[in-house]
Amino acid sequence: MDKPAGVLMFLLVILKVLGTAEADCSSTCSATSCTCTGQDLTSVPQDLPTTITWLDLRRNQITTLSQSDFSRYRSLEDLRLDYNSISTINSQAFYHLSNLTELWLDSNRITALRSDMFTGLGNLQYLYLFHNSISDIQDGTFNSTPQLTRLYLSNNRLTKLRANMFTGLGNLQTLDLYDNDITVIPDHTFNPTPQLKFLNLSNNHIQSIASNLLANLLNLTEVSLSDNSITAFPFEDLLNIQTIVTLHLDKNQMTTIPSTAYDILSSISEVNIDNNPWQCDCRMVEFRLKMTGTYPFENQIICFQPDSVHGQKLIDISPEDLMSYCEEPTIVRFEQSEDNPLIEGDSLRLVCEATGIPTPDITVTLPSGLNATVDSVGKVTVDVNGTIMIRDVTVEDSGQYVCTATNSVGFTRSVSIDVFYPNPPPTFSLGVIVGTVGVSFPPIRDLRRHAISS
Ligand SMILES: *[C@@H]1O[C@H](CO)[C@@H](O)[C@H](O)[C@H]1NC(C)=O
Ligand SMILES: *[C@@H]1O[C@H](CO)[C@@H](O)[C@H](O)[C@H]1NC(C)=O
Ligand SMILES: *[C@@H]1O[C@H](CO)[C@@H](O)[C@H](O)[C@H]1NC(C)=O
Ligand SMILES: *[C@@H]1O[C@H](CO)[C@@H](O)[C@H](O)[C@H]1NC(C)=O
Ligand SMILES: *[C@@H]1O[C@H](CO)[C@@H](O)[C@H](O)[C@H]1NC(C)=O
Repeated sequence: MDKPAGVLMFLLVILKVLGTAEADCSSTCSATSCTCTGQDLTSVPQDLPTTITWLDLRRNQITTLSQSDFSRYRSLEDLRLDYNSISTINSQAFYHLSNLTELWLDSNRITALRSDMFTGLGNLQYLYLFHNSISDIQDGTFNSTPQLTRLYLSNNRLTKLRANMFTGLGNLQTLDLYDNDITVIPDHTFNPTPQLKFLNLSNNHIQSIASNLLANLLNLTEVSLSDNSITAFPFEDLLNIQTIVTLHLDKNQMTTIPSTAYDILSSISEVNIDNNPWQCDCRMVEFRLKMTGTYPFENQIICFQPDSVHGQKLIDISPEDLMSYCEEPTIVRFEQSEDNPLIEGDSLRLVCEATGIPTPDITVTLPSGLNATVDSVGKVTVDVNGTIMIRDVTVEDSGQYVCTATNSVGFTRSVSIDVFYPNPPPTFSLGVIVGTVGVSFPPIRDLRRHAISS
């Protein structure tokens, strides 16, 4: 055969292969596998060999899965359904696939996992569910998959892990929850998964990690919590975990670190605590005293505050200087923020501005004797910036308000103001036009202001 003829023959062979692949899924099959990717299939073909153990249906247009789709293919071990448009998985759809070990459902449109979804998958080991829109996982969903070792749920829309979500996963080793919207992880969430080795919770909105959440995970090897809003991490939970080699806590909101964390961090080979708003003041003295410059993480504590050392490394600041950066709280003002007369039902706004290092927390003691803090909800709220809102005011809201500024190193200072009302009690005025009845309050002025304690 001369050269051009050889090339022509080669091209014809390629065209033939491509042509048949597009035309018919079953023609791609051997006795044990079919590769039906990118064929615009809208359902699972029913004319394939029933002996197949491998079925690849990636990049098609399938929207719904039902039990009848798979009842012919009971030998399947590896089923690829990723990159379809699956939004509906009917009850017990995989019921006949007791030999399945890998199920690829990533890059679809699944919004929720129900407890009957994986019934029958008693041998499933790897479950890929990333890149969906999953916002809800019913309790018990994984009770039917006791052999699962890897569960990939990254890039979904989970907002909380409710505590029974992972029951049944006694063999789970990898749990990937990267890039969801998780804010809260209940205390016992990982109790059902004692074999967990790789836990990825990066890119969520987690604010705190409860102590004991990780303490039972004695085989934990890699923990990734980067890019969350974690203010405190229970380092002591890692004391008993000998296996841990990677801990990522970078891009969080940690401000101080206890001295006990030093020995724990120095026993972990890959630590990242970069990009946290570290407060280099007297609270860091104990940790600083332990630092020797031996470990890479020691260079990752870059001071965010106080302003005078912003951008400096903690290790470059002497313990004496750290001591001097704490400052008693001072209440620089405590007053009503506007002077308009108040009508019953209005909001009373007070401002208590306090300075100090570390930044003091504000507690407002109301005329009723109750306290309000930044954690309060409802009628009275306190903003971190010191704005105090008393909504829906009534006569009972008059009296003495005390603002107390306390910082975490134990200093306290209080200032009170008295809110006076006319005596005899306020006159009622009729709102003529809209027909409502209201109480007019005079502006809160002539505020008596005095320090109660220092
Ligand atoms: C499932 O796997 C077992 C063990 O390999 C095998 O004996 C059995 O025939 C398989 N079942 C089906 C329906 O292929
Ligand atoms: C940790 O892993 C080892 C084997 O790597 C296993 O024998 C042991 O049971 C595991 N421990 C726990 C608490 O799961
Ligand atoms: C967590 O997942 C992200 C995204 O897949 C990855 O970049 C990161 O390396 C993972 N972390 C660990 C510790 O495996
Ligand atoms: C209110 O707060 C003050 C100052 O922090 C505290 O002394 C007092 O015991 C608190 N009262 C109540 C009822 O919690
Ligand atoms: C304090 O925060 C509140 C609520 O976030 C806001 O409305 C107010 O303008 C802030 N005040 C100052 C002085 O920043």
